[in-house]
Amino acid sequence: MAEKMTRPGRGPGGPHGPGGPHGHGFQKPKDLRGTLGKLMRYLAGYKGWLMLVLVLLVISSACTVGGSYLLKPLINDYILPGDFPGLARMLVVMALIYVTGAACTFGYARIMVRVAQTTVAKIREDLFEKMQALPLKYFDTHTHGELMSRYTNDIETVSEALNNSFGSLISCTLNFTGTIVMMLVLSPILTLVTFAMLFVMLQVVKVIGGRSRRYFAAQQKAVGAVNGYIEEMIEGQKVIKVFNHETAAKEGFNQLNEAYRQAGTRAQIFGGIMMPVMGNLSYVNYALTCCVGAIFAIQTGAFGLGDLAAFLQYSRQVSQPITQISQQVNTILSAVAGAERIFEVMETEPEVDEGKVQLVRATEQQDGTVTEADFHTGVWAWKKPDGELVPLRGDVRFDHVVFGYDERKVVLNDISLFAKPGQKIAFVGSTGAGKTTITSLINRFYEIQSGTITYDGIDVREIEKDSLRRSLGVVLQDTHLFTGTVADNIRYGRLDATDEEVEAAARLAGADSFIRHLPDGYQTVLSGDGGNLSQGERQLLNIARASCANPPVLILDEATSSIDTRTEKIIEKGMDRLMAGRTVFVIAHRLSTVRNAKAIMVLEQGQIIERGDHDDLIDQHGRYYQLYTGQMELD
Ligand SMILES: Nc1ncnc2c1ncn2[C@@H]1O[C@H](COP(=O)(O)OP(=O)(O)OP(=O)(O)O)[C@@H](O)[C@H]1O
Ligand SMILES: [Mg+2]
Repeated sequence: MAEKMTRPGRGPGGPHGPGGPHGHGFQKPKDLRGTLGKLMRYLAGYKGWLMLVLVLLVISSACTVGGSYLLKPLINDYILPGDFPGLARMLVVMALIYVTGAACTFGYARIMVRVAQTTVAKIREDLFEKMQALPLKYFDTHTHGELMSRYTNDIETVSEALNNSFGSLISCTLNFTGTIVMMLVLSPILTLVTFAMLFVMLQVVKVIGGRSRRYFAAQQKAVGAVNGYIEEMIEGQKVIKVFNHETAAKEGFNQLNEAYRQAGTRAQIFGGIMMPVMGNLSYVNYALTCCVGAIFAIQTGAFGLGDLAAFLQYSRQVSQPITQISQQVNTILSAVAGAERIFEVMETEPEVDEGKVQLVRATEQQDGTVTEADFHTGVWAWKKPDGELVPLRGDVRFDHVVFGYDERKVVLNDISLFAKPGQKIAFVGSTGAGKTTITSLINRFYEIQSGTITYDGIDVREIEKDSLRRSLGVVLQDTHLFTGTVADNIRYGRLDATDEEVEAAARLAGADSFIRHLPDGYQTVLSGDGGNLSQGERQLLNIARASCANPPVLILDEATSSIDTRTEKIIEKGMDRLMAGRTVFVIAHRLSTVRNAKAIMVLEQGQIIERGDHDDLIDQHGRYYQLYTGQMELD
């Protein structure tokens, strides 16, 4: 049962294939060329630098390969004839060549690190920007662990590949090709010996490499499972303690940990075998070449000692790139797979916003015409694309609205209602009836399937989303506070609010007195999501935040559910002052809160089954009456 607690998409077999989002094993990209093309577009700005990198790579390889070739003249022309001044000159030349090679390697690596880090920062920026434009539906259908792993694992592998692998791959390929060419130049026959050995080595790489790849993928999967489990257990510590679940949690962990140990052991064993095996094979190659070459040199005489020394040097170098190439190709493939997932997020359809009507400040003249004004003198007004200004009144109407989060399941069925400016409209009804859903539709978190929602006579789809949401103050059912001071959190409602306005908003929300009792008052720093506050205090801050925004329409979703009745009365008074002449939607389980509403809508299974004011509904002796008097049918 403990395994079941791992959230989908975090543990093994998440929605993104092997390893889930945590694993950056060796998943193959689906569209290698397309994704590489997109990555290249990110690099397009560095064309000049990349050309330089290529040049440096070629020089560095030429130096490595060429330096070894110099052994031939060094021995044949200087050591054997005993020309020691010449030998000294030659050694200086060799040193220069190796130093140049090293300098070029250092140079290209530095450039690549810069290019890689800037590119990756840009990708991260784009991804974050894109995330802000994603519709809520996306977050409903993707776990946060999944999104997080785009930023951590996936961007990390791309960074690794750009930093290192692309350069190494090119360098290894150049070295390998250059070495083979030089070997052919020195002795085609000896090269055959090398080819035979290389063939054997390739088989080893294939077999061991294939296995180790599989084991590494398994290890990644196990890491993902362990991490997901730990994350979940940290988040759920309180619940674990409340239900005495420590032992079960430990057992669950031990199972996953053991699986990780096994996978890790296998992966490390196979990962560790490759190098020594290849190393030994390369010694065998060296010895074989040595014997064959010596016989060859003695027998024919056309093959000098210098030739043999240079050739032996090459035969030592030739096998190195093989293992490296196979490793780098793996890294690049998993980076491309990671990039593919990043681009997938970036290419997700963003929130649609074809609205043209904007929210502006305006003043109404005596003759009834409206003109645009600056922030301090005006009142809110809608500015239509043709320039017409309509004062914002807060008149919200639903006309036969049908909605479901998922097309197949209707959550709201044929909802019609109206809220005239200044009215307080309440929604009541049992859990899951669709109250929160109605409010999410007003600010267009989701698109409705049919019907219309109008705001001051304008279809909400025609209103720019930013404007629409600025005109609505929403206190969400699940509160969220950000890391920062209390004042910062209240100012979240309107970033340019002054300290006085922040405090006024807090007083209005009834939050002032508790804030003053905090250690640093308004400057008290809240930790993640206000963990150091009580539930009710958090709600008060959320209400203060909404009133700081000073919106024409306010939506309070269960905003006062954790607040004592006395504080609630204070808030109500404050709100009444703030909301004079404006529209408020309240959702409350505590029916005393909604008593003074102009109209109460009783929602049941996505339909409004009763509506009217408190007295009407009590007289009707229907569902509201039952809810209010607590007389539920118990069958
Ligand atoms: N993001 C979502 N994705 C899919 N279905 C959802 C989502 N949010 C809510 N639902 C479903 O829609 C229905 C109405 O939910 P809603 O949150 O509107 O209820 P509510 O009346 O606010 O309940 P409560 O009193 O518990 O807050 C429920 O059946 C719920 O399961
Ligand atoms: Mg709700």
